[in-house]
Amino acid sequence: MKHDIVEKNLPLMIALIIVAISWGALAEIIPLFFLKQTTEPIEGLEPLSAVELEGRDIYIREGCHVCHTQMIRPFRAETERYGHYSLAGEHVYEHPFLWGSKRTGPDLARVGQRYSDDWHRAHLYNPRDVVPESNMPSFPWLFEQTIDGRDTPKKMKALRAVGVPYTDEQIANAKQDADGVREIDALVAYLQQLGTVLTQKR
Ligand code: HEC
Repeated sequence: MKHDIVEKNLPLMIALIIVAISWGALAEIIPLFFLKQTTEPIEGLEPLSAVELEGRDIYIREGCHVCHTQMIRPFRAETERYGHYSLAGEHVYEHPFLWGSKRTGPDLARVGQRYSDDWHRAHLYNPRDVVPESNMPSFPWLFEQTIDGRDTPKKMKALRAVGVPYTDEQIANAKQDADGVREIDALVAYLQQLGTVLTQKR
């Protein structure tokens, strides 16, 4: 029987198992690239401004994504606490995604406009000043450091290369827009727009 050949030949069996599993994975993954729902931006989505983009990089540098997700799952317990569940189309301009996988703190996918700028500044300076039981770290250095806008246009160009529709004008102004802005203000600008495109539309 032909099947004997496979069963008695270990390398061949391993190779065929790999082919079978890869085929299954590809059949699930490849169609996602062609689904409009997962690749097209939602209506009204704009690329981050120069300052917001720098704020996002501070968010990554400080490891905020290690404690906070940005992904509301479509379950009642989540949508009642955090708001409308996350849509793929809200995240198409994000490279890399900051969906995260661990919630030491709350999800931040729709934290934009939920608190005032002053609240965020006070909270990031020392979380315990506004939430006494908080175990979030303080980030006082963000109030002293400012952004060097030299790299901002390069970051935008890199994002444009992977499909984020920055205009030449935005790139030309990016250095000037971001240069000298306090890190805390850039981070707060980033936080205040999170998840707002979808909710403002409704
Ligand atoms: C060690 C884990 C940890 C890290 C790192 C961390 N946080 Fe938090 N964060 C928390 C916890 C816990 C809470 C809930 C208590 C509170 O509000 O302070 C929280 C709350 C928040 C809230 C309020 C959310 C809400 O809906 O009430 C915001 C905004 C926030 N964090 C932003 C940030 C940002 C920005 C950074 C990075 C600069 C950061 N966090 C880093 C643990 C963390």
